[in-house]
Amino acid sequence: MCGIVGYVGHREVVPLLMDGLRRLEYRGYDSAGVVAVENGAFQTSKAEGKLDRLKEKLETAPVHGQYGLGHTRWATHGPPSERNAHPMVDSRGRVALIHNGIIENFLPLKKRLIAEGWTFKSDTDTEVVANLISSYLDGDLPSAVARALSELEGMYAFAVVTNTGAGQQIVAARQGPPLVIGLAQGEQFLASDPSALLVHTKDVIFLENGDLAVLTPERVTVQDRHGRPVERPVQHLTWDPIQAEKGGYKHFMLKEIHEQTQAVQDTFAGRVDFENARILLDSVQITEDELRHIERIHILACGTSWHSGLIGKFLIEHIARIPVEVDYGSEYRYRDPIVDARVLAVGISQSGETADTISAMEAARERGARLFTICNVLGSQATRISEGVIYTHAGPEIGVASTKAFTTQLVALYLLALYLRQVKTGAVERHYLDALAHLPLAIDEVIRLQEKPMAEMAKKHHRAENFLYLGRGINYPIALEGALKLKEISYIHAEGYPAGEMKHGPIALIDEDLPVVAIATGNDLLFEKVKSNLQEVNARDGVVIALTDRDEEELGGICDEVITVPTVSPLLQPIINVIPLQLLAYFTGLRRGADVDQPRNLAKSVTVE
Ligand code: M6R
Repeated sequence: MCGIVGYVGHREVVPLLMDGLRRLEYRGYDSAGVVAVENGAFQTSKAEGKLDRLKEKLETAPVHGQYGLGHTRWATHGPPSERNAHPMVDSRGRVALIHNGIIENFLPLKKRLIAEGWTFKSDTDTEVVANLISSYLDGDLPSAVARALSELEGMYAFAVVTNTGAGQQIVAARQGPPLVIGLAQGEQFLASDPSALLVHTKDVIFLENGDLAVLTPERVTVQDRHGRPVERPVQHLTWDPIQAEKGGYKHFMLKEIHEQTQAVQDTFAGRVDFENARILLDSVQITEDELRHIERIHILACGTSWHSGLIGKFLIEHIARIPVEVDYGSEYRYRDPIVDARVLAVGISQSGETADTISAMEAARERGARLFTICNVLGSQATRISEGVIYTHAGPEIGVASTKAFTTQLVALYLLALYLRQVKTGAVERHYLDALAHLPLAIDEVIRLQEKPMAEMAKKHHRAENFLYLGRGINYPIALEGALKLKEISYIHAEGYPAGEMKHGPIALIDEDLPVVAIATGNDLLFEKVKSNLQEVNARDGVVIALTDRDEEELGGICDEVITVPTVSPLLQPIINVIPLQLLAYFTGLRRGADVDQPRNLAKSVTVE
């Protein structure tokens, strides 16, 4: 939510800022802006809407400088407009500031500053911080920022520059949303997310909460919340910068759907000893003996990650026989959960920065739970507060709709379930591992076989006003995920439902205009049950679309359309089943002219509550 970039060094700053913003635009696209400092003067440019609007503006009215800041906004305080775009310059024109997050006490601060003679041009909480810092500025920017910080309540990451003769300097502070500094020779970079830095450097420092950093071309210094100098470790990123490009695909989402074969393989590679049938998890600081004392698992997540948590419940309960509860991050800490040291809380998050998930994890920890995370971003907040991490090696996921993050989370949950079984029983059965080894080929097959049919299906149904997705058992969360993908990408209203629940309400929706996508894979009792549910749809003239690994005849010859998928182990089948639904959402969004990589009102990483 909001992207921050900064640069100090010897190069012309604006092209660097614009390149960084392009890579961060998925974090928010309500407005964008840059400030460059040249000969002690601010040159700013801002535009409402997507980054291209700012680009056009800069082409006709360029700005220059050797250091500066850039911002792409997801609006919280004040509507999307140029007036509310960052950077915000204080009313005496001495500091320029960009910000991600929410300042909760901005109103009393604003009233006080107005009484002191400071003026405001925007509706934002950000401008309050700019004026507050300027009110304390007496030659030394870091001290003014530190003083202002001590008065701020809320979650924020921000970066500030001044034109009052401090030389090339950026001051950055973090309390909540992420900030990462990229280190290079004679120049330094700042960003909300490493994907904006990868083309310049892979050596990075992740700021901790409460940190204040000062970047000059020669060095980076960091002080903690008490003003004490601290050394934050330099981490070397392994992500390939090319992965953060579209690589010939029209959209990141389509590219990321295709990357799932590799991403899934990368997520289990090195963690499974196929020869000795062992799961090898690194980055786990909880001893095996401590894990044996775990009696319950609480999974905490939001959105798509919550859907993977629902499947995780099936996996862990079936494989490791430990009871699992799954909560939305935003609900957990407000429901007074029963937690103690026998609970393992597992936060699932692609970004590792989702405020609701992090708060829920912290709430679990405060009540005594042990903390674990499944996460895609190295060094993110979720990984730093956890005692155990399984990284999903999905690489950067840029499309706002989660695809490869979801399927790799499912692999990570499968590994976690197997690991817990191994800890409890001393061994994992080989068939679980063989099933995993077979998975990448099946993913490759389903993408290859279903891309065109899903484009055709989208052509046929893209004018539908509603969609219903049905699934049962471990595939019920896939119905939820299919519906979420469709609504966020195409803006078609879609509902996911457990097929057996349809008769308790949603059946009233069914008519000849309602496409009903039912997941009917497997050959167990639930398959038979879904078949009956499909009969119920058919009897009411609904459009029956079956996603199945069985022969069409086995479904009773009542399907209007069939999506055929390969069969894998029932515990891994959701990974295969979701892929055609991702493709269907993608092509439907495309047909409807929606911006599939940056759907309206959304942001990739939701760092506000
Ligand atoms: O980074 P996280 O996994 O914590 O993000 C959670 C949700 O915001 C995210 O999954 C969201 O629902 C996606 N837009 C879904 O495609």
